[in-house]
Amino acid sequence: MKIAAILSALAAATLVSAGKLHKLNLKGTEVPESNIVPGAYIIQYEPHVSHVTASNNLKTHKVGFRTRNQYTKFNGAAITVTSDHDGEALAAIPGVQHVWPVTLYSLPKVKKSNKKAADPYVTSGHQMTGVDVVHSQYKITGKGIKIGVLDSGVDYRHPAFAAKGSNAGCFARYGKNCRVAHGWDFVGDNFTGSNTPVPDSDPMDCQGHGTHVAGIVGGNALNIAVEPLPPQPFIGVAPDAIIGAYRIFGCNGGTNSAVIMAAMELAFNDGMDVINMSFGSGSSFQTNPIAVLGEILSTNGMAVVAAAGDDGVDGVWMVSDTGLGETSSSVASFDNKYQIHHAFTYGDIYRPYVSSVPVNLGPTAIVPIFSVDGSLSDGCQLYQYTRIDAAGKFILVGGYPDDCDAHLRAVLSATVGAAGVIIQSIPYGLEAAPAFKDFPVISIEFQAGVDIIAAYKKDPQTLVSFSAENDNFLVENGGFPSDFSSFGLDGELRSKPDLGAPGSDILSTYPLAKDGYAVLSGTSMATPYIAGAHALYIQSQKKTFRGSQVRKVLKNTATISKDFNATTTASAAKQGAGLVNVLNAILTTTCISPDHIDLFDSVRHRKTVHIKIKNEGKKLETYTLSHTPADALNSYSWGNIFPDGTPIIEADHATVGFSANPIDIAPGETVTVALTFKMPKKGDETQWPIYSGYVIATPNTAGSVAVHVPYTGLKGDFSKVPIQDSDVGDPKIFGKNADGLLASVPPSRSFDLRGPIVQLTPVIITREASHTPRFTIRVYDSQNVFQGYLYSPDLGLADVALGRDRNYVDNIPYNTSFQVWSWLGDVQPEGASKLVSLPSNTYRLEVASQRKFTSGVYPQDFEIYDLGSYTFLTNNGGEIPPI
Ligand SMILES: *[C@@H]1O[C@H](CO)[C@@H](O)[C@H](O)[C@H]1NC(C)=O
Ligand SMILES: *[C@@H]1O[C@H](CO)[C@@H](O)[C@H](O)[C@H]1NC(C)=O
Ligand SMILES: *[C@@H]1O[C@H](CO)[C@@H](O)[C@H](O)[C@H]1NC(C)=O
Ligand SMILES: *[C@@H]1O[C@H](CO)[C@@H](O)[C@H](O)[C@H]1NC(C)=O
Repeated sequence: MKIAAILSALAAATLVSAGKLHKLNLKGTEVPESNIVPGAYIIQYEPHVSHVTASNNLKTHKVGFRTRNQYTKFNGAAITVTSDHDGEALAAIPGVQHVWPVTLYSLPKVKKSNKKAADPYVTSGHQMTGVDVVHSQYKITGKGIKIGVLDSGVDYRHPAFAAKGSNAGCFARYGKNCRVAHGWDFVGDNFTGSNTPVPDSDPMDCQGHGTHVAGIVGGNALNIAVEPLPPQPFIGVAPDAIIGAYRIFGCNGGTNSAVIMAAMELAFNDGMDVINMSFGSGSSFQTNPIAVLGEILSTNGMAVVAAAGDDGVDGVWMVSDTGLGETSSSVASFDNKYQIHHAFTYGDIYRPYVSSVPVNLGPTAIVPIFSVDGSLSDGCQLYQYTRIDAAGKFILVGGYPDDCDAHLRAVLSATVGAAGVIIQSIPYGLEAAPAFKDFPVISIEFQAGVDIIAAYKKDPQTLVSFSAENDNFLVENGGFPSDFSSFGLDGELRSKPDLGAPGSDILSTYPLAKDGYAVLSGTSMATPYIAGAHALYIQSQKKTFRGSQVRKVLKNTATISKDFNATTTASAAKQGAGLVNVLNAILTTTCISPDHIDLFDSVRHRKTVHIKIKNEGKKLETYTLSHTPADALNSYSWGNIFPDGTPIIEADHATVGFSANPIDIAPGETVTVALTFKMPKKGDETQWPIYSGYVIATPNTAGSVAVHVPYTGLKGDFSKVPIQDSDVGDPKIFGKNADGLLASVPPSRSFDLRGPIVQLTPVIITREASHTPRFTIRVYDSQNVFQGYLYSPDLGLADVALGRDRNYVDNIPYNTSFQVWSWLGDVQPEGASKLVSLPSNTYRLEVASQRKFTSGVYPQDFEIYDLGSYTFLTNNGGEIPPI
């Protein structure tokens, strides 16, 4: 594959005003709150400034620095500043256009499961996406296409990466002519993100994530005869693609933006057609340096694919920001359709189960525990067990595996002599229940529970048999968007995620030192699937394709999905354009541009949007245009300020008019169609529902592939979406004592900040219910004169762009759901580049967050909370006011 010539790299980037410091603060569960590498910055020069000129300018202005990375496609460098210049000071140097602090990124969380897979073309998800047919009938396997894996490295010794035939010598090594042909270790085993990287040439993986990802891209475990044997054979999406292993994570811990950008550039220079990357963080804005570079590289031919994130339980505005470039792909996850499980029978019922221990019993009776209203109970009360005759039988209850206490239901069941306890999953699926000694705790699907109860009511003597044999089941939620997959839209109401791929319960390679194979779940698993899909598509085409063109075809031809057990179409803010279908992408002779339509909010609503339809076939085609509305998502249905983790689904949609329909398009011709959108009627503007749908062009020729484009919009005024979570009383000021305990403080009390030991430190708790381009804490003196922005020793300057916080969810540390800004009296005055220690005085604190889609004029464009006035005694003298 040829990569297109490098254009003037900076021309395309979407940038803001010159000489600007971007005070990014990206959040993620595993990212420490202070996720900035101290003293390290990424600077982007003005277009015609060279490294030499920039370096001279820094020296002329007496900036002491050490270069961490020099970039070439991105006109800039990452530096560590050794003098006392800060980001503002760097931004003021001639020739410097943008400055960002170097920020930390974590590997996304993945869920490891004990599930095993069987037939590769079933459990790999390839029959969901047409990849099975693309391999078998079209013999397209990604041959010659290069895919870069920016991750924890790749265990290239794995037999699933051994080259076949003439390249057999590549077994257990990497390099020219091998499956893993390119690689570099940017960091070394001990790298955590903030310490000094120790690069070398060996991208071996000691973590696991990168090897799993590379296997999804292009592993081949079909005919493996050497240890470790796969639990079931499987094959990656592009088993003949060339893999580049770019190691940016150590064995534990995170990485940072400077390293990620260096790896992106090397992947580009190695001629990679596609890179897939995805690192944790909260959803926010496009103007981070990784997105800027991603944009430059994808405009120059390399596709950038990134995970949408695994924050589906947090509701809207959570899509991860590495995929936010205008041309990068943000990838959502769909549940694997078929899974291999043990099967049970009960009358005519034959369904899968998961048990905490093997079940070694002959046919046995079941006894359900019913609530007073006749529904199946969760079985969390002792008396429910003593009222039934359960000796030697299986007890059936409903709910989550960890309802009540983890083991309570098992303990109570064992106490009454039951053979085991069966838990019907609510709302659906199979959940591994916590084990209780050798007592069987068994999970079954929701519908299986419903069916068992019906059969039991007909004949309570029916017996259940649990088999140890495996079978292949179409599982609940199989083929539908994964619960964990993050909802969009992005911070500027663009349509994200872009499209989906199988990402739940995915068998792939794992480092040999960690058993060789693993089944993992996450949008991390869906992302490499899309990278592999790019390789298949690029190979199928005669001409050179650029990154964003491939995304367009994959989106145009994806399969639009419903939600599980629903009759309506799932929101485009969840599934993007739908589940990738590589077969359709290869077969289509039609293309629609652009590949998404952003209608923005009610204030900025785009009434008329033009799309271009191109007939790439060989004969005249007539197209019929149609509109498929999708679910609207309402995260603010009860007047709440913090978005609900589970948005309410509303049947509310726009209407679409077409300037012409049907339309004839000659071969090779492009026709522009005007779409006229009318906002949904029903949605409540004060609840900001996100509506969406699809415009579809169906060729009249039977068997031709229909193509579509998703649209998304917000009903209401986006600038009015609340930022601070005042539902829980935030923002507020507390005192933190020496033990770290927080206590509320009455207004007008005094804080003595004169160390060395501060007994009660003022802390400001904030909780962002949605993102803000500019979060500030402002400090005013007793005359109400603005003194500057609060500087917190923990979190840095309170003048930053912030993504939204997470919901309070059981399994996520509570403290990652809000910010704690401690204060010892330092502020940065307006326009200054240095901190100032305030003298003792009474100060009023104010939290002001810039509203979205505003130009940021204070105060009218800000959401403002006055925290009141307090007296602060500081080391900096000043009048100590009477208390
Ligand atoms: C949150 O709290 C846990 C346990 O108290 C602690 O280990 C962790 O470091 C804290 N995380 C942050 C981001 O403060
Ligand atoms: C692909 O995306 C997954 C999701 O993290 C990421 O972990 C992996 O690093 C990416 N792989 C490549 C090919 O860069
Ligand atoms: C990594 O850290 C360990 C423990 O601190 C140390 O023994 C080892 O030498 C380090 N390795 C490298 C390559 O720096
Ligand atoms: C699917 O929906 C129907 C109708 O609402 C309901 O009766 C059934 O139990 C649902 N099935 C599952 C598995 O949720």
